[in-house]
Amino acid sequence: MNQRDSEQVAQMFTDGGYTVTQDEFDADAILVNTCSVRDQAEQKALGKMGIMGRHRQRKPHVVYGFMGCMAQSRGEELFKNIPHLDVVVGTQKYHKVFRYVDDILQSRIERRMDDLSTVFKGHEICDIEEEEDSQNTIKDHIPKDYQASAFVSIMQGCNMKCSYCIVPDTRGRERGRPISDILSEVRGLRDKGVREVTLLGQIVNLYGRTEFEKVDGKSPFVQLLEQVHEIEGIERIRFTSPHPIGYRQDLIDAFTYLPKLASHIHFPMQSGSDRILKLMRRPYKNERFIEICEKMKTARPDLAITTDIIVGFPGETEQDFQDTVNCVKQLEFDNCFVFRYSQRKDTPAAEMELQLPESVKEERNQELLTVVNQLAIAKNNALVGTTQQVLCEGPSKTKQSTLSGRTSQNKIVIFEGSPERMTGQLLDIKIESSTGFTLYGTPVLDPVSAH
Ligand code: 5AD
Ligand code: SF4
Repeated sequence: MNQRDSEQVAQMFTDGGYTVTQDEFDADAILVNTCSVRDQAEQKALGKMGIMGRHRQRKPHVVYGFMGCMAQSRGEELFKNIPHLDVVVGTQKYHKVFRYVDDILQSRIERRMDDLSTVFKGHEICDIEEEEDSQNTIKDHIPKDYQASAFVSIMQGCNMKCSYCIVPDTRGRERGRPISDILSEVRGLRDKGVREVTLLGQIVNLYGRTEFEKVDGKSPFVQLLEQVHEIEGIERIRFTSPHPIGYRQDLIDAFTYLPKLASHIHFPMQSGSDRILKLMRRPYKNERFIEICEKMKTARPDLAITTDIIVGFPGETEQDFQDTVNCVKQLEFDNCFVFRYSQRKDTPAAEMELQLPESVKEERNQELLTVVNQLAIAKNNALVGTTQQVLCEGPSKTKQSTLSGRTSQNKIVIFEGSPERMTGQLLDIKIESSTGFTLYGTPVLDPVSAH
């Protein structure tokens, strides 16, 4: 979601005549989009902003800004410790960043023309108000040449109150975009060559529940999926992240009659213990989570399921943790993101007794990761020898001479081939080996294209 929000800001700067630099040394404006979900992410953003302050010495006009969740939750306070900071813009104001930064930059450039020795102080614009309709502002793209896949933000905010989570504070109430706007965005992407879209929302399956009606027993989200499915040229549809709440039969059935829906869901479980789920204020029992996974696997037998799990939540006993481990083994996730619980400001869990020491969180993290990795490796090894349809995303990040793409199950495959001819294409790739987390294969060329 942050990546998508950053794309929107970059698009507005590009429209305004700026270019995105590859290197921060070349930039006239440096914006850091921040995440607040865990303390570690905030510390990283603060550290990075501190270090980047040195560019002012060489280029006094550089504008510095924080955007996103940490900007939203800390607001003005950020200016106190970071003297070079100019702009703090919250999660409902991404569309305003360009105006703020451009104005400062233009005025600095004008002033510098008069006096080259001017030292610019932080400008201190802080805009973290709520803004009606801000969900409709994340809609523009600058697709790269041959871009295969794109994110589409379909809603903002979250109405849940998970006791550990800062998101309802930083992102506000749930607000969906109109279906017609989303469809025209997807058509625009398709026209530029995009073949796969990932629909984004905090609880994506609850899309539109407060704004739009059910039709024939189908939720607004399923209606949206059906309509995106009809767009010719879009070959794959993904969405992230769904929540057990409101995960009903209509969405399960959609996987049987919408073949473009990719065979993967990222479905956060958080804990395998009912006692902890209750303390987390997650409104479902472990049994219900398992039931949805099983129904989904019946609807789509090759479905890969990945998840998020928090270890070391306040009061988590060894038994609670083992319930989680057992559930991971039972459901055989394709992969899990394991997070050590992080105390967040103004959340109920931060005030709970029985906060666990970091050492216990770390031990549980390691133990769970061992189980998760074994499962992921086994799942990947089982694909060796099969042929998978892979959407080629272009040169691989780790080895430029090879290409990389993803299977319908969202597994990364590395293979040799021509970037010009293959990027953005769906290819059949024979999987030949697996290093555990990455698959390697060879394109299966049909006799015509082989010449
Ligand atoms: N501590 C640790 N992990 C958290 N997450 C959300 N809040 C916290 C927190 N306070 C995790 C959840 C969520 C993912 C995006 O981040 O697992 O699904
Ligand atoms: Fe946070 Fe819970 Fe909302 Fe997810 S569902 S964003 S974990 S409050």
